[in-house]
Parts: sequence; structure tokens; C-alpha cells
Amino acid sequence: MSGSAQLRETNFLLILVFAARDVDRYQSSKTGDSQEGNPLLKYLTMKIKATGPITVAEYMREVLTNPLKGYYMHQNMLGEHGDFVTSPEISQIFGELIGIWCINEWISGGKSKSLNLVEFGPGRGSLMDDILRVFSQFQNLLNTCDISIHLVEVSPKLSEIQALNLTGKSTMAKHEDKPSYKTGITKTGLPINWYYNIEDVPSGYTFYIAHEFFDALPIHKLQKIQDKWKEILVDVDPENPQKLRFVLGSGCSLIARTFVQPDENRNHVEVCPEAAVIIQKLVSQLKIYGGAALIADYGHSGDKEDTFRGFRSHQLHNVLLDPGTADLTADVDFNFLKNMTANKVSFLGPITQHEFLRNMGIDFRLKVLMENAKDAATQQHLIASYDVLMNPNKMGKRFHFFSLFPHSRLEQASKLKYPIAGFTKLEMS
Ligand SMILES: C[S@@+](CC[C@H](N)C(=O)[O-])C[C@H]1O[C@@H](n2cnc3c(N)ncnc32)[C@H](O)[C@@H]1O
Repeated sequence: MSGSAQLRETNFLLILVFAARDVDRYQSSKTGDSQEGNPLLKYLTMKIKATGPITVAEYMREVLTNPLKGYYMHQNMLGEHGDFVTSPEISQIFGELIGIWCINEWISGGKSKSLNLVEFGPGRGSLMDDILRVFSQFQNLLNTCDISIHLVEVSPKLSEIQALNLTGKSTMAKHEDKPSYKTGITKTGLPINWYYNIEDVPSGYTFYIAHEFFDALPIHKLQKIQDKWKEILVDVDPENPQKLRFVLGSGCSLIARTFVQPDENRNHVEVCPEAAVIIQKLVSQLKIYGGAALIADYGHSGDKEDTFRGFRSHQLHNVLLDPGTADLTADVDFNFLKNMTANKVSFLGPITQHEFLRNMGIDFRLKVLMENAKDAATQQHLIASYDVLMNPNKMGKRFHFFSLFPHSRLEQASKLKYPIAGFTKLEMS
């Protein structure tokens, strides 16, 4: 593959400063903003007054995906003029290496005759665009395979942007009577479909990709008080009815009984039942039909406590202030997700983004691009975007990759010496 500038249309200085959302949580927190006239706040306040305090998960779900005013539903929040920047937006090398990962796995997994490529929460569609460009470069190899693309996206606005980027059309056929809400053909000639829910995605040999998706799913927050788990709830502040506040629920939490391990030694945990449901669905699909899941996000291995935070204009933002105007996110608990697989599939990782991209040959790819770069400015951009992705103090160590495979693939990997790309160093020539 050849290519020149690998930097997207973003203000580069801004990227360097605000590349990852996983900044120190208490670095700054805007609190003075006016929330007057905020329709979501009004709705949440009325709801709480009518039926009582709501869980943090319900609050997060409303704030992010309320059909009328949810944060993700009607705006493009990615990039320089938005609230945060993600790896696929920083450099197309990121998506290209994931494209190579898919092709490598398709070959090692036995070159299945059909392949569903599913992405959760594709944002602007940049990652999928880069993957599909790599697929088109390997068309001769892949032409024995029937490939179709499936995007799980809840946001009408972002699905419009994805459609434009991936198919060249902003509006597409809608299917009221089919599980997909939108369908079309990609610029590279592959069928593409959009869904609100993983349950609607067709079964088959599948690669599931999720980048910065699981951190957007609603979490419950639980606090241990005198050996009992209580749920933290969101309530209206009685002293200032324009404001929301956290309160402690009374009874013992059912969520805690279902999801918290008996030997948990933290006093505060965040659990994400929606993530558990998705992982369990992936596990059952992979076991029956084969394929793999590749998931990248910021997170921890079951050792962090309070990670719930808001982002607006690349700055930390008070999560209860001006709901719907800032992104809400929580670190992914990789241990929790691993437990949800119940050992029914193999779980590889988590490993750092730095390790994964290095194993996938990012240095080799950078070298080729540097040699092909037209000018010094392009070279500088290449190096700077590489640094943001790889530097342990930027995205390199904060983001992690993990993968799910049927056990048979891991057995084959050790017997036939077909390593799992990304999780084992590949030889580059
Ligand atoms: C943080 S953005 C990440 C975008 C993209 N993956 C990237 O890395 O640039 C989260 C994405 O997940 C989508 N999303 C959030 N909650 C969702 C849900 N419950 N179901 C489907 N998509 C969701 C958002 O609309 C958005 O596309």
C-alpha cells in the first residue's frame, strides 16, 4: 500500500494536547456553566420528582442516547471542533493495521467462504473506511469470500456521517420491515447495513470490532457501606431544584448481588450489565459460527474504583451538569468482561495499544510511509501522529486491546504455529 499524509483533517497541536480522554480525572472540572433551559435536565428532574432517584446507568443512558436530546443522537462530537479525538481519527495507520489483523485472522482461521464484519459504535466511520481500503488492496486474495459489513449504531446523526463516508451517500434506503434500519453498498462494493442492537445482526462467521464503544455504555455505581453494597443514585438537589446530586440508595442492591464477585475487595465498583449482555452474545456467536472479536478501549483490570467522568470541548466536565452537552464515559473493567465469558471462549489480553500496534508492524508501516512521503511537513505529521498513538504517556499505555476467539483457534495457533496477530509479534520483511 502506498499513501502520503496519514493525518486526518484535524488541528494537529490540539490532537497532541488532548489526544486521549483518559486524562487524570480530577485534572479540571468545569462547574460554573449555566444549565438554564436545558430540556434534558428538565425532563430528568420531572422524572425523578415523579418516580424517585434514578440509577447512574439510567442517567447515563438518558444523557447519551435519549432519542430527543441525547448527547450522541444529533451531533458530531469527534475531532478538533468536538469534545474528544480517537485513535482512528488521528491516523489511518490505526485502521489499516486492524484491516491487516482481520485479513490475517481470516487466513489463519481457514479462509471462510463468508465473513460478516461488525463494528460497534463506529463514530464517523473512519476505522471501517480504513479497514475497507485495506480489504480492497487485497481483493485478489479475498475474492473467494462473501464479505458484508454491519454497523451497530444508535445515533441517527453519526449513522448519516458513516453512510456518507463509507458509501458516498448521505441518505440511504430505510427498511422498516427488516432488522437493519438502513442499508447500502460501500464505496468498495460491499453490502453494508445499520442496526440499533446486536440482537438484529445476522449470524455467521464474524469479526466483531469495537473501539471506544464499551466505555460509552451505562454503568451502575455501587458503594460498600458496612459490608453491604448500596447503589449510588441521581436525585434532584432539594436546596437547588435546578441541580442534580448523587445520593445513596437504601436497600441492598440487586445489581450487586448479580454482578459483584463475593471476593471483591474494593469499596466502590462500577458494573455495566449492557456490556455483559453484549459479551455473552459474542461468546455464543463465536462458539457456534466462529470468527473473533477485537476490542480496544481504556480501562483497568478490576482495580479502579470511581472512573465516571464527562468531557466537553476536550476538557473534563462535571457529569451532573448540563446533561446532554458533554460526553459521559467510564473505564472498561476488563476483568468483569473476562468473567462474563465464563471461559466459554479464549480471552487474549488485555495488552497495551503500544504493544498491539508494535506487534502488528506499525514501525514497518511508518517506515514505508515516511519513504513515500512527499514533503517534510507530511513526514512531521506522520511522526507526530505515531507518537500520539504509541507514546506510553499518550494513548500507547492508556488504551488496551483484548480479543475473543473460539478455543479451537487457540489450539490451532499453538499446534500449527499460526500466531494470533497483534498478541504475538509477527515477523515483518
Ligand atoms: C466514543 S464514540 C467512538 C466512536 C468510534 N468508535 C471511534 O473510536 O472514533 C462511541 C460510539 O458508540 C455509539 N454508541 C454509544 N452508545 C451506543 C449504544 N448503546 N448502541 C450503539 N451505539 C452506541 C456512539 O453513537 C458512537 O458512534
